[in-house]
Amino acid sequence: MDFIPYGMHWIDEEDINEVANVLRSNWITTGPKIKEFEDALCAYIGCKYCVAVNSGTSALDIAVQSLDLPVGSEIITTPFTFVATSNSIIYNNHKPIFADICSDTFNIDPEDIRRKITKNTKAIIYVDYAGQPCDIKEIKEIADEFDLYLIEDACHALGAEYDNKKIGNFADLTIFSFHPVKHITTGEGGAVATNHTELYEKLSLLRTHGIDKNAMDRYGPSASWAYDMKYLGRNYRITDFQAALGISQLKKLDRFIQKRNELARTYDEFFKNVDFIRLPAIKGNVRHAWHIYTILLDEPVNRNDFFNYMRTENIGVNVHYIPAYKHSYYRNVFGLDPKDFPNTEEVFKKIITLPLYPRMDEESIRYVYDKIKSYQI
Ligand SMILES: Cc1ncc(COP(=O)(O)O)c(C=O)c1O
Repeated sequence: MDFIPYGMHWIDEEDINEVANVLRSNWITTGPKIKEFEDALCAYIGCKYCVAVNSGTSALDIAVQSLDLPVGSEIITTPFTFVATSNSIIYNNHKPIFADICSDTFNIDPEDIRRKITKNTKAIIYVDYAGQPCDIKEIKEIADEFDLYLIEDACHALGAEYDNKKIGNFADLTIFSFHPVKHITTGEGGAVATNHTELYEKLSLLRTHGIDKNAMDRYGPSASWAYDMKYLGRNYRITDFQAALGISQLKKLDRFIQKRNELARTYDEFFKNVDFIRLPAIKGNVRHAWHIYTILLDEPVNRNDFFNYMRTENIGVNVHYIPAYKHSYYRNVFGLDPKDFPNTEEVFKKIITLPLYPRMDEESIRYVYDKIKSYQI
């Protein structure tokens, strides 16, 4: 069997043609495709505004920046995420405060958020781990009570729903990633979705140096040379050919999510007969987007031995995630005690990600299952 990765994009000839058309045109960046992509995302999500940028990390960074919080503000987030989530807090000279996760969904625990609030807390960044929305109702209640901003890191959750409403309509700002392992891809890319007009206008500037006119506005016979830099922004622009890829991919998103759900159900059925595998809980009021499929390996299975076995069998298992506080940068700067995050520690010890991507075929998923079943403890 050829190597089976844990995740992979699906780009077809139609996508390639859309990209090629833009490459043959006069606008390959800062052109009309960006707005078209943003409008298509808004139509899909049902939100007012989207600002497309060159990565999910950039989207997180300008989202935090746009809130204009006092330097040193505390922002509560989960340690069980890709480091970009908490890094965005540090980029903006704020302090990440980690709350533990729930032991069954691996999403941030609202009760621990409550315990971590101080007078310096200004925002919460919650992550819809694996594609399952967090306990948004409980988190929103906390935000309302303590007057906190909410950022939803939905890099795993494009197309997911909570209470029958698309993710992108709950937090003040919602972040998406279009990295190739995600639901749709633009190569690299990301977006911030919001329903706040003021934040939208600010984000649009922050992605392009904080300058109030983009190249298109400065082009043509009636345009002036003048522009003003209003904020300390960056160059986080996405290109038009990436946006064209995004528009084309978005048309397939629901089919991709449907396939991800079918594969997850197949795995769930398989694992009913495997004693040492425990599955995460799925809440009744969500549509899961299944960015990744994770399982917990119970005693006496050792996760690292199992990982090595699966890799030897050409199966691209992975571990999502090493808790942020365990990385040497975080240890050196923040020196947190892992004992303060008992659920994260327990889940991290046992978790493994199995391959899941829309193009995964019957033979590959069967192969993964057969290899797991024949694992000798
Ligand atoms: C939860 C989460 N947040 C943020 C990011 C960063 O996104 P990107 O890779 O597009 O910068 C990722 C990407 O893996 C992610 O999984």
